Amino acid sequence: MKLSVIGCGYLGAVHAASMTSLGHDVVGIDVDESKIASLRAGRAPFFEPGLSAILESGLASGRLAFSTDIAEAADADVHFIAVGTPQRRGAYAADLTYVDAAVAALVPMLRPGVLVVGKSTVPIGTAAGLADQIRETGAELAWNPEFLREGFAVQDTVTPDRLVYGVPEGESGVAARATLDRVYRDAVAAGTPVVVTDYATAELVKVAANAFLATKISFINAMAEISEVVGADVTHLADAIGHDARIGRRFLNAGVGFGGGCLPKDIRAFVARAEELGRGESVAFLTQVDAINRRRRDRVVELALAAVGGEPHRARVAVLGLAFKPDSDDVRDSPALDVAVRLHGLGVDVVATDPEAVPNARRLHPQLSFTAAPEDALQGADAVVLVTEWPEYRALDPVIVGGLVRNRTIIDGRNVLDPAAWRAAGWTYRGMGRP
Ligand code: UGA
Repeated sequence: MKLSVIGCGYLGAVHAASMTSLGHDVVGIDVDESKIASLRAGRAPFFEPGLSAILESGLASGRLAFSTDIAEAADADVHFIAVGTPQRRGAYAADLTYVDAAVAALVPMLRPGVLVVGKSTVPIGTAAGLADQIRETGAELAWNPEFLREGFAVQDTVTPDRLVYGVPEGESGVAARATLDRVYRDAVAAGTPVVVTDYATAELVKVAANAFLATKISFINAMAEISEVVGADVTHLADAIGHDARIGRRFLNAGVGFGGGCLPKDIRAFVARAEELGRGESVAFLTQVDAINRRRRDRVVELALAAVGGEPHRARVAVLGLAFKPDSDDVRDSPALDVAVRLHGLGVDVVATDPEAVPNARRLHPQLSFTAAPEDALQGADAVVLVTEWPEYRALDPVIVGGLVRNRTIIDGRNVLDPAAWRAAGWTYRGMGRP
């Protein structure tokens, strides 16, 4: 099939390249010239394992192209909208400027038989609002939310754990479903569950899924807060309750909390939308989920200050990690970067490191000191703060690191180190919700 993908950020670039790997002809469109230049050259504009390989093979096959000119998308049978919906400045609601602009640019080139597929995360009711404009051209709209995780984005796109199609009622809905089944032919043939529903449900599925995941993380972080008071170990607690299959162990890792371009902004936009709908009380708990999450950053800063004897101006602190999670260079709403910035703001001499995210972090906060080499960050440190659980930080040898630092105190903001091993090497170890 001939597909276009409007918006080549994390979602769109991965979607475009992945669809080519499934055999489709794809053109990716973005207004950002440098991003398009990079994609055309087969270079992923951000760190995502596996993306460069499918970009290169897609470009070599001649079935993948990128352009800043939306006219290049004119002959596509299916147009995916994959633009960003960031948090609106000074508000909790989502900013739909890019979605509206993408639809406005597409409308003049739509024709009967074409399907527009929304993938961006949008407030409930957005699809219904766009459908009329699209239908006037004879084309149809479907909403097909995306559940990919950064770091596993290619795998999640090519072999998703479920597909959700929000389609209109009647014949046009049947046709839209058939088109989406053709797009995702391999996944459908492999027996991937497909949930066919209406627009509002498809939109709600996406925000509900992210709200649930955020709630799960904040639940265990709330238990970490209680554990800290009573001297309990939240990691043992998570193991114990996680053995109950109804609860499950995944997304029960207490630590410095969630960040990234999705979970934080999605729960805030959900609260804002529910309030507009007169149902604010139904999701008021998400405000607490957000508050618990932010408090964990305060906690890491508090532990770091205590580690340097409450004297930030005389202390050097190594911050291990800047990305919001490993296998990503994304620092949007990153708890790790936030901790580094706040410690710096308190007068600490912060040296921050990350295997991939230093350039993005430096762009936002040039006032910080960065290094790509963890040894340089650790050298002479009065305290070490681990805030992104990259494998190389998890594997650090407490004896070797002990030889680099000035003072052996480590704050394990992700609960990934073995406290016994670090203590045995003479370290003061502080975890999150661990004795
Ligand atoms: C999230 C969802 O997991 C995806 O399903 C969704 O498609 C995506 O948002 C999106 O809406 O686009 P992502 O932002 O890539 O994916 O990151 P997650 O893997 O969900 O991690 C989010 C944050 O939670 C990270 O900062 C991570 O460190 C933190 N986390 C995760 C915890 O603190 N504890 C856990 O147990 C798990």
